[in-house]
Amino acid sequence: MAALTALTKSLGYHCAKRSKISTFSQNFPSHNPRFQTLRTLILEPSLSESVKLNRLSDYDSGIVEVNLDRPEAKNAIGKEMLSGLRHAFEAVDRDSSARVVMISSSVPKVFCAGADLKERKKMTAAEELQIPTIAVIEGAALGGGLEMALSCDLRICGENALLGLPETGLAIIPGAGGTQRLPRLVGKSIAKDIIFTGRRMGGRDAMSMGLVNYCVPAGEAHPKALEIAREINQKGPIAIRMAKRAINEGIDREMVSALDLEEECYEQTLNTKDRLEGLAAFAEKRKPIYTGE
Ligand code: COA
Repeated sequence: MAALTALTKSLGYHCAKRSKISTFSQNFPSHNPRFQTLRTLILEPSLSESVKLNRLSDYDSGIVEVNLDRPEAKNAIGKEMLSGLRHAFEAVDRDSSARVVMISSSVPKVFCAGADLKERKKMTAAEELQIPTIAVIEGAALGGGLEMALSCDLRICGENALLGLPETGLAIIPGAGGTQRLPRLVGKSIAKDIIFTGRRMGGRDAMSMGLVNYCVPAGEAHPKALEIAREINQKGPIAIRMAKRAINEGIDREMVSALDLEEECYEQTLNTKDRLEGLAAFAEKRKPIYTGE
């Protein structure tokens, strides 16, 4: 659970209903049949109206989507949505079959408009799942919305994305991790430019400064994210978790200690059925089937 505290906690400074089984595909881009897939909602008793948890099935089993759905406020993060996010991440953390998370929006032209400027309530949000997280950004990701994306492992945006940290224009600073995560990602100088000016950037600019991993044609962020999620989903789940831990925890250590951490994480992958499966699959010239054991 400690792992969960960064996405929700990161949004915490600033600023339930029983779900039904239903298909959810109408909310997602489906222009490319390659990316069409069966989706069912995880039965979770306390998810919010504005955050849906969506577990992909069959071939894509292991991929989970946390979907933001608060169209009237452009997915601004208010108290209700924050509580929904926290429940969603807790549910993912409890789900041992979950291997990669996509955070996406079903509201057209917006990922998330940031902290709810009308509620202005204190929020405590979620973060740091042990499994990889991918922010799927189409349209606006501003303020806390961009900070949420920054707390993900990967960011994928459409060319029409609008990214920025406008807080200084509201006479505050990004307080959900933005002043810390952004410079770690793009460097101090670029982060200062973005935060001091509050400028809004397009997807291509964001890509050129390393703020996002991929910038794809407008409307194609979701299929691209699914493609990446599928690649991750094929890998050894323990290896992925250990790689994430080694990178996240090691990055701020000095090298000797960081290499010790890497060794510790590496050792966690040695006595696993999956490692033997990987070797057997290589010898037998077939795809490995990993179980996370
Ligand atoms: N908090 C609360 N409500 C918000 C919001 C926010 N962060 N962002 C948008 N909304 C609301 C608007 O007030 C509006 O509500 P209304 O219909 O009751 O007037 C509704 O969402 C639609 O917003 P609108 O601005 O008309 O939509 P748009 O498509 O023209 O623009 C944005 C979308 C996201 C680009 C624009 O709303 C915006 O810039 N929002 C503020 C983002 C921001 O500064 N976030 C940082 C917070 S620290």
